[in-house]
Amino acid sequence: MTTSPTTVIETERLILRGLTMDDIDALFALYRNPEVRTYFPEGTLTYDETKEELEWIINVYYVQYGWGLWATIHKPTGAFIGRCGLLPWTIDGSHEVEVAYLLDRAYWGQGLATEAAQAIVQYAFGPLQLTRLICLIDSKNRASQRVAQKIGMTFEKAIVDDKGPALLYSMGHHKQGARDNTGERGIFTYSGNVPRA
Ligand SMILES: CC(C)(COP(=O)(O)OP(=O)(O)OC[C@H]1O[C@@H](n2cnc3c(N)ncnc32)[C@H](O)[C@@H]1OP(=O)(O)O)[C@@H](O)C(=O)NCCC(=O)NCCS
Repeated sequence: MTTSPTTVIETERLILRGLTMDDIDALFALYRNPEVRTYFPEGTLTYDETKEELEWIINVYYVQYGWGLWATIHKPTGAFIGRCGLLPWTIDGSHEVEVAYLLDRAYWGQGLATEAAQAIVQYAFGPLQLTRLICLIDSKNRASQRVAQKIGMTFEKAIVDDKGPALLYSMGHHKQGARDNTGERGIFTYSGNVPRA
């Protein structure tokens, strides 16, 4: 079953809208590309793995949190060029929300990931009232580290989780004396193929 896509965020060149099952082919075209997936612990995904992730985003993240990864549409062309958004994690016992970005190779180097990520940060700290955001990045993924820096994050620490080692960049602070929005709604930790970022 599919639902009508909903625009969540609009920037100068991008629309971030809710993913639907109709996006499966466009998403799979990205996830099957080894260059796009170079720094993901899971590597490329199969069609079935992409479908499983898409179902998880729509049926769990959107329902549980009201946010997740969103289809990223290039306004000048109308093309589906990636998926960017927010992912929940529990790291060292703390609830964390990651800013995640992944774009089609053809659209790299135009500042589009930075444009999306900046808007996601504003949305998270604004309407969603989150107080802290992170990025989990492979130590060799310089482009992603640069995007994290450009949106105002700084390197905090190196971590190792069940997906392997990563650099944790962050901005903001954990809410004092109260659980944040993610905690109040409960955290799902997905052990499947939702990517690290
Ligand atoms: C990471 C990614 C989203 C960046 O997208 P993008 O639209 O090209 O990023 P932007 O153009 O907004 O900015 C990239 C920045 O990184 C820099 N950069 C790019 N490649 C780099 C490299 N190999 N080494 C150092 N810096 C690099 C760019 O110069 C730019 O910085 P600048 O504006 O100071 O010059 C894109 O490469 C991608 O989709 N990669 C595959 C998925 C992925 O790895 N996602 C992140 C997982 S943590």
